Amino acid sequence: MNIIKKFALVAGMGALLSSAAYADGLQGKVIGFSQIGSESGWRAAETSVTKAEAAELGIDLKFADAQQKQENQIKAIRGFIAQGVDAILIAPVVATGWDEVLTEAKEANIPVVLLDRGVDAPEDLYLTSVASDQVKEGAVAGQWLISTVGDKPCKVVEIEGTVGSSPAINRKKGFDEAVAAVPTITIVRSQTGEFTRSKGKEVMEGFIKAENGGKDICAVYAHNDDMAVGAIQAIKDAGLKPGTDILVVSIDSVPDIFSAMVAGEANASVELTPNMAGPAFAALDAYLNNGTIPPKFIITESKLYTPADDPQGEYDRRKGLGY
Ligand code: AHR
Repeated sequence: MNIIKKFALVAGMGALLSSAAYADGLQGKVIGFSQIGSESGWRAAETSVTKAEAAELGIDLKFADAQQKQENQIKAIRGFIAQGVDAILIAPVVATGWDEVLTEAKEANIPVVLLDRGVDAPEDLYLTSVASDQVKEGAVAGQWLISTVGDKPCKVVEIEGTVGSSPAINRKKGFDEAVAAVPTITIVRSQTGEFTRSKGKEVMEGFIKAENGGKDICAVYAHNDDMAVGAIQAIKDAGLKPGTDILVVSIDSVPDIFSAMVAGEANASVELTPNMAGPAFAALDAYLNNGTIPPKFIITESKLYTPADDPQGEYDRRKGLGY
């Protein structure tokens, strides 16, 4: 079974993968992909599945890694426009500062599809956006915490994603709004871990020091699994038990978080499918071959996984899928 079919099964995205809907499909089309970088396991998987899906469809994919810098993304996009590509995929590192380059793409009649993150720009500047409902992801994580701790006092520390990125803004909003309904749950510290494992560990070490060696912390909410895995290491280094002394809830559902669940060290993760390319290519196929305008927002699922959901099986199903 190829990588794309495996992703479709894992993420339940089969219905969105009818990429070869039109006779000509995307065979021979040149599509530029401005990727953020490789800050997380999830990001690596998104890159792998996009390349695999493009190869399967016969797309000539021009890939540009921006190494976390918006200026690199803008440069790459201008390069794609100069080459006269058929379409552009962008995973935007931050939400603001896109109007000018998106206007340039529009004036060149090149459709743009946003992947996994949103932008603060007029909606007519891009064809569609394939992403999760990131506010909902935060709310699902918050609801899980509420249902787990009930009305017991619970001090939460929050490790945020990249400053100014749509998932950091929205996952914070969704979680904060959900737990605000329960006065006994309080977010005592919040800091960016930049979506990386090493920074997640560093930030958690600081939280532990500041909160009585970690004894005052009831739960850590990390905006992605990689930062949660880093936080788990920091908790263990401090002589505490992650998953028991400090609850761990995060977002992505990458294989490493399922390993942590198997070890009893992580409690919940909200899934984000790395297969944004399937729906994106399906939308581009319909648009380029038939003029069909897709919905402005194509929203992927946000399923909650806990240790009750066969974490070993979920690990086995995901490992080797590009994470
Ligand atoms: O935009 C999606 C987020 O970016 C993922 O949750 C995170 O792992 C990645 O870095």
